[in-house]
Amino acid sequence: MTTEQTAPQPWRVIEIVGGYRRALAVLGAWRADVFTELDKGPRTDRQLAGKLGLHQEALRDLLHALAGLDLVTLGADGGYALTPHAACLVPGRPGYIGGFLDNQETEVHPAWSGLADTLRTGLPTPRQEDDRPYDLYASEERRDGFVDAMDFIVAPLARQIADRDWSGFRSVLDVGGARGSLATTLAEAHPHLRAAVFDLPALEPAFTRFTAGRASADRLTFHAGDFFTDPLPRADAVILGHVLHNWPEDARRSLIRSAAEAVNPGGALLIYDAMLDEDTPRLVNSLLSLDMRMWSGGSQYLADDCVSWLTEAGFRDVERHAHGASSSLVVGHKPA
Ligand SMILES: C[S@@+](CC[C@H](N)C(=O)[O-])C[C@H]1O[C@@H](n2cnc3c(N)ncnc32)[C@H](O)[C@@H]1O
Repeated sequence: MTTEQTAPQPWRVIEIVGGYRRALAVLGAWRADVFTELDKGPRTDRQLAGKLGLHQEALRDLLHALAGLDLVTLGADGGYALTPHAACLVPGRPGYIGGFLDNQETEVHPAWSGLADTLRTGLPTPRQEDDRPYDLYASEERRDGFVDAMDFIVAPLARQIADRDWSGFRSVLDVGGARGSLATTLAEAHPHLRAAVFDLPALEPAFTRFTAGRASADRLTFHAGDFFTDPLPRADAVILGHVLHNWPEDARRSLIRSAAEAVNPGGALLIYDAMLDEDTPRLVNSLLSLDMRMWSGGSQYLADDCVSWLTEAGFRDVERHAHGASSSLVVGHKPA
């Protein structure tokens, strides 16, 4: 180990602790339409401030901070322009992540204000209106934003799941499958598959809009219900993706039991999440686990525990795979 590695680095810690300012600078610029306006072409701070009704010098500081974050550049003529990284911050551009930004700002950031309490109690940050995380669906705008954010996260994982061998399955049920992004990817990649989603009734209109007009639409179905109280429809393969982490362990086990009943003999249960590994903690998964503890009362969980839950539920040959950048996929097979 070199001296550089072992020497205390207080500036590194100071930078980490001040890191929230980077997030708030980007969110603030996004909310103030700075990225939308710069997407129309280079603008000086004066032009931008005039157009957006902002204080010119405060805006200049923000633009310089965004330049430091590699989201804008400053030209010799005093005009600011977007870098390619900023395209995802412009409404209407392909890959726009507005739903993710909105979810971070309105749900996740406020939840983190309760870290001290959660550390003492293990319970989520109390909400003002209600206790359940998916009450956010009461607002159509926030619901659509949340669904966008889920799709953005699930897209690369969906492709990896679609690349598996589906020749032995004729039907798949995605439990908590939102507006059907994964179900649609599977149905489009495998024309012999019928794909269904089971999710809260609030998401049915989003599913209908998302699947309308697709070549696979006649093989896609939405089942509206509450997976804690309603039975799940049967399928050869059942998927629980980014669902178990929303709930505490007793609820997770109950969901696995319901999903196990829904799997046809000879079929499989697939579970993916940003699971934890006791020996090699990953920063991103540990932070996500805290997100869940404070936001929903769930957490990420050990991949080994997931393997045990499936084995206890009667699945055989339970496999564990690396999935995407930091997720795991656990697959259990139900005896025929
Ligand atoms: C974190 S999202 C995961 C979405 C998607 N499977 C993915 O991988 O991104 C959890 C999903 O569970 C659904 N959900 C939450 N509570 C539910 C309930 N009680 N019954 C049915 N679905 C529920 C939510 O609407 C949401 O679509």
